[in-house]
Amino acid sequence: SAFRKLVVANWKMHGSLAFNQALVEGYLQGLQALPQTDVVVCVPYPYLAQMQSLLSGSRVAWGAQNLAKYEQGAYTGEVSADMLRDFGVQYVIIGHSERSTAYCESDENIAEKFMMAKRHGLTPILCVGETLLEREAGVMERVVGKQLETIIRLFGGGAFTEAIISYEPIWAIGTGLAATAEQAVSMHQFIRDTVASADQAAAATLKILYGGSVNPQNAVQLLNQKEIDGALVGRCSLDVEQFIKICQASP
Ligand code: G3H
Repeated sequence: SAFRKLVVANWKMHGSLAFNQALVEGYLQGLQALPQTDVVVCVPYPYLAQMQSLLSGSRVAWGAQNLAKYEQGAYTGEVSADMLRDFGVQYVIIGHSERSTAYCESDENIAEKFMMAKRHGLTPILCVGETLLEREAGVMERVVGKQLETIIRLFGGGAFTEAIISYEPIWAIGTGLAATAEQAVSMHQFIRDTVASADQAAAATLKILYGGSVNPQNAVQLLNQKEIDGALVGRCSLDVEQFIKICQASP
């Protein structure tokens, strides 16, 4: 598509004040030579203030890895969209499989969080993807389709205007076994078509990333596909050299 490539780092539950500072300073330095790539770093909640102080005015934006589906109230341990906005957050990962499995998030919950982000001017990065069993059974499009249809049914296809979807096959996350460019392209086309059949205009503004064992070697193939607007990077985002090489792989 016509977008600049977007590489999103998802640090998951890694980092410390000292580690993070060295890592983002490395990112900023490495990115000086790479003006063509947009970068977002999604960090654990306690480090959002640190990102705000290190990255304000830079070309790297920061994001969170989850948010509450409620505005405010008696929800111990939850963090609201307004709180994220207080720390300059622009992006938030929604429905990562590590959350939907471990914390039993339903498609409806995920849809509500997605809309909460949108209502507060945050760009949601919605994760969708199938398990290995589902791929082997050939039902991966049905599974991903259902994840999208829940949002379309509750809020309409217009909800995807300027949103981000990350296709993350669960079998590829943290396994070292990425999807092939062919597998990713085919699912990315399915995702854009599904959104387009609900809202053509929204589909044209939607960025679709690939996530799951992206590394400097496979990034070249993946990021050079026109259907792949960027990558959501876990493990390799924790290493400056590998992360910069992935950013470098984008045309
Ligand atoms: O959010 C990132 C994905 O879960 C991919 O993680 O690059 O460690 O496989 P990974």
